[in-house]
Amino acid sequence: MIFLAPLQGYTDYVFRNAYARHFSGIDMAIAPFVSLVRGKKVKLTHLKDLLPENNRGGMKIIPQVMGNDPELFITMAKSLKDLGYDSMNWNLGCPVRAIARKKRGSGLLPFPGDIDSILSKIIPAMDIKFSIKTRLGYESVEEANALMEAYNRYPLDFLVIHPRVGTQMYEGDIHYSVFEEWLRKAKMPVIYSGDIWTREIYLDMKTRFPEVIHWMLGRGLFKDLFLAEKISGVLSPEDADARFWNFQFDLLDALQQRMLRERNVLNKMKEYWSMWAEMFTNKDIILQALYPLTHVKELYHSFHEIQQYAALKAG
Ligand SMILES: Cc1cc2nc3c(=O)[nH]c(=O)nc-3n(C[C@H](O)[C@H](O)[C@H](O)COP(=O)(O)O)c2cc1C
Repeated sequence: MIFLAPLQGYTDYVFRNAYARHFSGIDMAIAPFVSLVRGKKVKLTHLKDLLPENNRGGMKIIPQVMGNDPELFITMAKSLKDLGYDSMNWNLGCPVRAIARKKRGSGLLPFPGDIDSILSKIIPAMDIKFSIKTRLGYESVEEANALMEAYNRYPLDFLVIHPRVGTQMYEGDIHYSVFEEWLRKAKMPVIYSGDIWTREIYLDMKTRFPEVIHWMLGRGLFKDLFLAEKISGVLSPEDADARFWNFQFDLLDALQQRMLRERNVLNKMKEYWSMWAEMFTNKDIILQALYPLTHVKELYHSFHEIQQYAALKAG
């Protein structure tokens, strides 16, 4: 299966639903993380991205949580179950320093004893499938051995691996040899996440790591909205241009319906376009036209202009 990676700020329900209306090739998404919160019950406003009414007709999703307090995991699992979910994913990959410093996300990876202790408390107490999304360590891959030993002690539904360490953020070499060692040791199914930019890279990786059962697309899908279709072999290039623009106008409409402030709609679209511009040969000209815009109606106008003078890269 092809998974959509959780990208906080990008893959929220408005995007997921619009994407699913126009493209195929994604079988499942892990939603961007929600933090574990105190209280007997999790407020529905906190779970807005996961509410069934916001996900109707869109992609199938698995909620992801961030935190380290066993009791709060159990409360969250109940709330997610009440919403109809049967699966929950734990974020042990987020590299943001303010988060890592609090022993959350990848900041917990240097403490496999803590991870083990949390899992020993929550796994028997939750009535939901549980999986983890992890890196190989926080500071160094030397943390990797002890981590896999801890993960292997529990019946995880699957393990998503982004084979970098936290301090690398999203750049720098992927540690393929350590990933390979993990693949040999892992007792649970493994999903791979990281730097799949093209169909060719995907096919190479698939040959190289046949043990990987599912593949996750993140930034690659934002630099090429057709990547999942190319990977699944269903893209017909003739109508790609029209489909790209139908999606843009549909997403812009959907954002306007959901976001009250015009400025937020514009900022969101500009963020998306910082990646989507890669799909065009004249990327810099497009971004120079979009960045200064201050009104949504100018954005509609710009879209029509770009449509006329810019063409999507072939392939
Ligand atoms: C802007 C951004 C936001 C992200 N948000 C999340 C998140 O909420 N949860 C998570 O597990 N990973 C998150 N990630 C990591 C991605 O899911 C993915 O593992 C990583 O980007 C590597 O895959 P890629 O090279 O295909 O993008 C984020 C990455 C980026 C760039």
